[in-house]
Amino acid sequence: MNLKQMVGIEAAKYVKDGMIVGLGTGSTAYYLVEEIGRRIKEEGLNITGVTTSKATEQQALNLGIPLKSIDEVSHVDLTIDGADEISSDFQGIKGGGAALLFEKIVASYSDKNIWIVDESKMVDDLGKFPLPVEVIPYGSQQLLKLFKEKNLSPILRLNKENEILKTDSGNYIIDLHLKKIDKEQTHDLATWLNSLAGVVEHGLFLNIVNLVIVGKGTEPETLEV
Ligand code: A5P
Repeated sequence: MNLKQMVGIEAAKYVKDGMIVGLGTGSTAYYLVEEIGRRIKEEGLNITGVTTSKATEQQALNLGIPLKSIDEVSHVDLTIDGADEISSDFQGIKGGGAALLFEKIVASYSDKNIWIVDESKMVDDLGKFPLPVEVIPYGSQQLLKLFKEKNLSPILRLNKENEILKTDSGNYIIDLHLKKIDKEQTHDLATWLNSLAGVVEHGLFLNIVNLVIVGKGTEPETLEV
């Protein structure tokens, strides 16, 4: 079993009958969704899923997981998702899979958030992983220029066909290659990005996670935040 599968299966144990569960996106969350699908079939688990991307929605539908949109539920009990980086003070970068907008919306309305990662994602400071910023196409060249002027090393994300990548909401992603984000500056950076016209969302997930499940060796490690 690989580490992503290990933490996906471990996290699925936190899902209980009757819960409304946010289903994350990415290669780690994939295993969580598979395990929830298995439990529904084999154990009769009864849950409602709220997906965070079209890709996860398709996977969940194929597995027969009952789904509702975030606008159809009163609340979300628990969301389980992957992450690209988690710092030693449990702040995160997400959006490597371009699903940060729906992921942040679902996480924000969740009573509890669990992140599942392999040990390579645990870092001291954030920033080695490029910080995704989702922007609307109109004005995106101006934002690229602004980020360049501020020495934030922006790169407009392309898809496999070398075309500009479009998110599930039809937006673009600008990745900021920052190398290191000082802990004292993380909140200010998030506030500044939120203040820019045309920025829809960014990949800094601050003060969101409650529990981190890390895959290492033969056993997952669970860290309470
Ligand atoms: C999707 O946009 C992301 O936030 C993912 O949750 C994150 O990139 C982790 O993905 P992997 O589990 O594939 O590394």
